[in-house]
Amino acid sequence: MAILKIARMGHPVLRRRADPIADPRAPEIARLIADMQETLRDIGGIGLAAPQVHVPLRVVIFSVPAARAGDPEAGDDAPDGPVPFTVLVNPQIEVLDAATEMGLEACLSVPGLAGMVPRFRRLRYRADTPDGGRLEREAAGFHARVVQHECDHLDGVLYPMRMSDLSLLGFTEEMARWVPSAPNRAGAVTPAKADA
Ligand code: NI
Repeated sequence: MAILKIARMGHPVLRRRADPIADPRAPEIARLIADMQETLRDIGGIGLAAPQVHVPLRVVIFSVPAARAGDPEAGDDAPDGPVPFTVLVNPQIEVLDAATEMGLEACLSVPGLAGMVPRFRRLRYRADTPDGGRLEREAAGFHARVVQHECDHLDGVLYPMRMSDLSLLGFTEEMARWVPSAPNRAGAVTPAKADA
């Protein structure tokens, strides 16, 4: 396994549409996933998409730790539990609720910055799995946000391109200081940033 170099905003691999994976069980795909997992563990982010490690293929990895799972006390009215380490090959998203909510996001490919991004609250996603099977889940809240952020990477989209108000893009330290509780749709507190 190897720790891979992260592509940063401006690199063309982050702007192009990634290619589908014909055989999710191929040894080179297993190796890529293992390297991505090691890279993510080393950096300490929530999720990672293959284009972020200069590989233009449709695979993402992520997990939602318990600390970031839906919290009704924080105003998340569509709570979702923690999600174990997940690999999505050739993922597809179906939006289940057209309503969006704002939340703070960061990205390993956009280091040092964070921004408030509107995302769909509820969705269903389907994907191939590395063992040759299929996976289908519903997601809400932070879980849905992470999936949208990661799958956007496969289409050459970075979170600033999804922002509706660029005045809410800033340096991470400043955003944590001044926008720690930027209001979401319910006027509730948004949890800390998602590095993904
Ligand atoms: Ni990202």
